[in-house]
Order: sequence, then structure tokens, then C-alpha cells
Amino acid sequence: QTADAFFAANRPVGLTFDDVSLATLYSEILPKDAETSTTLSEQVRLSIPIISSDMDTVTEARMAIAMALNGGLGLIHYNMPAREQVKEVARVKRHIHGLIQDPITVRPDLHIGDVLDLIEAKNYEFRTFPVVNEKGKLVGLLSGSSVRERYRAKPVAEAMTARADIHTVSVDALKNDPIAAADAFFTQHVGIHKMLVVDNDDHLRGLATISDIERITTEAGSRRKAARDADFRLIVGAALAPVRQADGSLDRDRIIDHVSQLVAEHIDCVAVSTAHGHTAGVGDMVRLVRDAFPHLTIIAGNVTSGAGVEYLADCGANAIKVGQGPGSICTTRIVAGVGIPQLTALHVAANGARAKGVKIIADGGITKSGDIVKALTLADAVILGGLLAGCREAPGEIMEINGKIYKQYRGMGSLAAMKDGSAARYGHNKDDKTRKLTAEGIEALKEVSGSLDDVLGNLVGGLQSGMGYLGAGNLPTLRQNARYIRVSPAGQKESTPHDVIEIKAGVSS
Ligand code: XMP
Repeated sequence: QTADAFFAANRPVGLTFDDVSLATLYSEILPKDAETSTTLSEQVRLSIPIISSDMDTVTEARMAIAMALNGGLGLIHYNMPAREQVKEVARVKRHIHGLIQDPITVRPDLHIGDVLDLIEAKNYEFRTFPVVNEKGKLVGLLSGSSVRERYRAKPVAEAMTARADIHTVSVDALKNDPIAAADAFFTQHVGIHKMLVVDNDDHLRGLATISDIERITTEAGSRRKAARDADFRLIVGAALAPVRQADGSLDRDRIIDHVSQLVAEHIDCVAVSTAHGHTAGVGDMVRLVRDAFPHLTIIAGNVTSGAGVEYLADCGANAIKVGQGPGSICTTRIVAGVGIPQLTALHVAANGARAKGVKIIADGGITKSGDIVKALTLADAVILGGLLAGCREAPGEIMEINGKIYKQYRGMGSLAAMKDGSAARYGHNKDDKTRKLTAEGIEALKEVSGSLDDVLGNLVGGLQSGMGYLGAGNLPTLRQNARYIRVSPAGQKESTPHDVIEIKAGVSS
């Protein structure tokens, strides 16, 4: 059945991912040729429709850089002071792939013995160091062959290659395609294994090694196209909290000042992230940002109705987050008794989005690649929390329990996260001593899952596989082609490995 016919026949039952399966269709599309790009607005174009959640155990600069390099988007969370969040955004926007932006340097007045001690103390695996003066200007390069015990007493200034004899590259030359520029440098200067990058005043701005660049160029063919802005910078977004004054009204000056700083760092989109987006407060916040920044892409939410989508669209949002309580760490449905199973929520939201010409993003409850395929039959992109929280790029402590390695993952509505700042997202004030914060999320652990590249590789592979089964060469065709069938409990059981003894977990997560 088509989405409209299927959901009409099942009304008023709320359905979610595992209640439903997609029918296969005649196909001329090989999974590898299925094209996964999507847009959230004119400016925000992604190669994969996957966004990392604005949670404090999922997205900071490291995750956002890796997401954008893979063609997706990271939303930096707001459980940190505003100035810190601006710095995290700047880290992503200034990231030059392949370039070590804060290389370890030494001063010319040290001795080789000091450098040897430094290597030993810090366990460095390299012995070549740029030499900079107290102003950060490049004055020489100390090569590994000079860093030997027998030269202990020699001053670095005497052992180093002088500035005049070092080939460098201007940071401006790396603006468009840093990897190609580095590749050209190493091809031109045979025998040189380190490329030093300087600005117009000769301040050291970075270092690239030939081995890193070679690894990246060989990987490049297999990686998806990175998500970049018009000036070749990586794309990134940041979550905004509806900051309020003591009388409960929006703190307009603070909000505008914060967004202005983000815009000065070339932020691509902001996300007004709350548990209940179909409210006057969130509407006011979206209008405030829209009026002050007419061209900025605004994501807002969360809602689970067509009316909610239309309301936020009218306030000026470009893309609306859909989902209340489906998340793996959410307890909203238990605590508040509220929420609509996610696939039904996406269906009603999609109708609202169509009416207003805005995008919707499926947020929460995705536990496997098949859920992404189902979500994208109705939504323009998905937000992932739990599936990415175990990646090494996610912030959070790593801990070992019974020989297994875990990372912390917590709901932004958990008591600990709300005390760290996210209370406003759930309509609470963390400093209000008279009322108890009511948690709508839990604190949990995720098994460490390796690199984001690998996790996304599996998820996107699954998405492309689903697109192949539905004869969909791109995401709009997937939405158009999708035909749904309700799955019985026996059908559900049949869908997962059964009647065998599993040797190794096979269902991709
Ligand atoms: P997954 O299932 O990907 O869900 O782990 C991530 C999404 O869950 C939302 N979120 C919460 N919802 N209480 C809630 O009810 C919480 O404490 C909480 N924290 C995060 C959020 O939309 C996120 O993207």
C-alpha cells in the first residue's frame, strides 16, 4: 500500500520501525549506484542523509569533523558555555583534512638533550620538530637525524635546518583542496617528508606528513564526498537552547549575541532543540533567530504532528525534527505518557512538511540500517544518537567492565545532563531550587564500536541495499516508491536470525 492508504487503514494504531516492512519492487538499480544525497535547505547539502545528534555524549568537534568528512552533518550540543560551543564550531570550520593543526614544536634555545627528554617523557613516536620562536614564527626545522644522544649538548638553533632552507606552503594555498595541494608539494619536493604550512606573517599554521597524505589519497576513492560549504569548509551545525531571563521570557540579547558569534565562524545551521517544539516559546525563539538572520538554515523541534511541523515552518524553520520518546535513552513516554510511535509520527509530519515545502528529520529510535531506509521513505534525513555514541569520535569516558570496553551515553533529559545545562530543553530551569527536575532520559553505556568511518560505512551500505530493493536511484524516488506492509509478531520473529546458534553478531548496528 502507499503511505497514505497504509496509514489510513491502520489508524488509529501507532506504528514504528519493527511493525512494518517495505515491499521489494522491480529494480534496475545496483546498491552501489544508489545516490544518497539530500538537502536541508538551499545551503545545507549532504552526501549522506545522516546527522549526529546534538547530545553531550555524541557530538563535539571531533565527531562533527568526521561526520562532515563522510558527507553528513554533526550538530554540536549546547551543554557547555556558549563561548566553548563557538570554539568547537570554529574547530570544525577551520579543519583542514590531512593537516595537523597544532604540531608539537620546540624553541631554538633548547638543547638536543631537552628534546630527547621531551620525546621520552611524552612517548612521542616522531623525532622531527618545527622550531618556532616565542611569537610562534617558524625559524627552523629539527630533523630526526639531529636528535641523537651524541648531540645532547648541542643547541637546537645550531642543529636545525634554517628557515631560509625550508620549503613551506602558504595556508591560503590549501583553501580549496588541501590534499591535492599537499600531494603536489610532495611530488615537487622529492625526498621531503614533512610539509610545513605558514600564514602571511610566517606563523606556523600546520604540518602534514607524506605518509598521512598518501593514506588519505588512497582512501579517497572509497570515501563519500565530504559535506562542504561554498568555500570548501566542512559543514557543521550547533544546537541552541531557549535561554530565558528570570521572568521566564526569552533572553533575546544573549541568544542573538550567541548566534552572531556562530555566524561569524561561518556556522551552516542552528538547531533549536527541545523536547516539545509545538510551543509558543520555541516558536518565538525560531522567529527571533529567523528575523535576525534571514539566510541562516534553522532546524527546530521536536514535534510529532502535521500541525507541529506547519507551526515551526510558519515561524521560519527550514527543517523540522520529528520524534518524541523513540530514542534509546528516552523515558518521555513512560514519564509523561506522551509520544507517538515513530513511523506514524513521521507519516503525519511528512504531510505537514509537504504542505509547507519544508524538510523533516527523523530523530531517535533508529537501531539498525533497515530503520534508516524505513525512516527515509518519509523523512529527508535521520538523526542518530545511540548508534554513534560508541564511536571513538564521540566525546565521553571510556571504561572497561569485565574485559569489555564501553562509552558513556546519556539522555539530554537525564538528571546528570540536565544539571550540566540541558534542563531548558525539557522546560525546566536547572537553577530552580524549589522544584525537582524530573528526568526524561537515562544514563547508559554503549559498547565501543570503532571508528565512525566503519559504522557509517555499514549504515550507508544498508541504506543503499534498501534503495536497490525498491528500485530507487535516489532518495526522492525511495520516498515515491515505498510500499509498506504491516508485520505480524511471527513475521517479526522471522525477520531476525532464528533457529540457529549464532557464532558472531550478524545484524549490523
Ligand atoms: P537514539 O535512539 O538515536 O535517540 O539514541 C537519540 C535522540 O533521542 C532524543 N533524546 C532524548 N529524548 N529523553 C528523551 O525523551 C532524553 O533524555 C533524550 N536525550 C536525547 C534526541 O532527540 C536524540 O537525538
